[in-house]
Amino acid sequence: MTAQKKLFVKTYGCQMNVYDSERMTEALAGQGYVATDRPDDADMILLNTCHIREKAAEKVYSELGRYKDLKAEKPDLRIGVAGCVAQAEGEEILRRQPLVDLVVGPQSYHRLPELEAKARTGAKALDTDFPAEDKFAALKGRGPKAKRGPTAFLTVQEGCDKFCAFCVVPYTRGAEVSRPVAQVLDEARDLVDRGVREITLLGQNVNAYHGAGEGGDWSLARLVRALDRIEGLERIRYTTSHPNDMDDDLIAAHGDCASLMPYLHLPVQAGSDRILKRMNRKHTAEAYLRLIERLRAARPDLHLSGDFIVGFPEETEEDFQATMALVEAVGYGSAFSFKYSTRPGTPAAERDQVPEAEKDDRLQRLQALLTRQQRALQDAMVGREVDVLFEKPGRLPGQMVGKSEYLHAVHVEADDISAGDLRRVRIVESGPNSLRGVPA
Ligand code: SAH
Ligand code: SF4
Ligand code: F3S
Repeated sequence: MTAQKKLFVKTYGCQMNVYDSERMTEALAGQGYVATDRPDDADMILLNTCHIREKAAEKVYSELGRYKDLKAEKPDLRIGVAGCVAQAEGEEILRRQPLVDLVVGPQSYHRLPELEAKARTGAKALDTDFPAEDKFAALKGRGPKAKRGPTAFLTVQEGCDKFCAFCVVPYTRGAEVSRPVAQVLDEARDLVDRGVREITLLGQNVNAYHGAGEGGDWSLARLVRALDRIEGLERIRYTTSHPNDMDDDLIAAHGDCASLMPYLHLPVQAGSDRILKRMNRKHTAEAYLRLIERLRAARPDLHLSGDFIVGFPEETEEDFQATMALVEAVGYGSAFSFKYSTRPGTPAAERDQVPEAEKDDRLQRLQALLTRQQRALQDAMVGREVDVLFEKPGRLPGQMVGKSEYLHAVHVEADDISAGDLRRVRIVESGPNSLRGVPA
């Protein structure tokens, strides 16, 4: 048995990175590592990074700089960079920051034990290949089968073939790949056996899922319907979807599947057809609005969430007003909005940029509108009953926090509620970021 070493993982970016960090922790458990939440206690520090915007990527280098003294005190400390910055910059990271011992791209995590062993010898370990072997199968089951909390992520699809003109994901995560149905169902059953009651299916383009299954490739709708039949799995969510991959069956599933939650993150990015075209989104604002209508016909109480980019190259005030109009027309329950950030190597990086001050101003106006909508929908929950899946104790004594079916955070004071309980709650108050309720 190898001596126990400590692993500190810091995760940036999207939920897929959260899932990957769990898998990497499991893979390194086989090398004698246990997780720690203190970098100064660690024998290995692993940053799981994001490359989506310039700020996200720069954060990594400032974080690495902070470990300089630690490494000087502890020569055996190994520092690794994983995730999308690792994939995008590869060897460049080793040149720019000599503290780094190991660089591993998202498609090579199953090779982490060998890379760790190499880094232990004092050599630099680098792997940013897109190997043909099945990463997920190779990662599976290496870790301890620990009891889990009530909610979990499950990556079912990775990569993207859409090539939106602003986005690095097709380059950092590679071409779209779907995991086979049996593998996904096994992992879901295993999670449920370990205490999970809600699973969020993940993919950069999750609704483009086309995993091999009985009788051919399965769509996401078919997968959701199969998961819906798993005893003990109370809730299913999925993210992130592209409007063009929302097929009839998936729309229908929102009406038919009791465990599919009435909340959908469906990014549109912009409301101007001219800009959508320049973004290579391959849909119009009108097509998006029609899609929302069909989704709401299947599930009238559906809460929508979206992503928006303001200040995409060549965006005029009139284009921006079209985004505001689209937001007004939809009414979002929550949303994420960003200033366009130039990503080297993507088509939009070469185009006429919108001045920074203009981007700031547009972002402020859009966020004011989105916050207003979000708050109005949240306030409208007061007096209604919701189902809450409780996750953990709240900040106040005797308080528990969980999520409604619409993904609102809900606080309840009650001494007979534990993590993992699903309870009917009447909402009595709406605060800035959460709701307060009482058992119904
Ligand atoms: N797979 C997801 C998107 C992942 S990135 C999807 O297709 O929706 C998450 C969000 O970051 C995107 O939806 C987009 O709004 C934003 N984003 C991506 N590239 C960006 C860039 N260069 N500048 C600003 N925001 C960006
Ligand atoms: Fe990026 Fe577009 Fe693919 Fe989403 S669909 S990951 S925004 S390229
Ligand atoms: Fe970031 Fe990579 Fe996710 S760039 S958003 S960590 S897919």
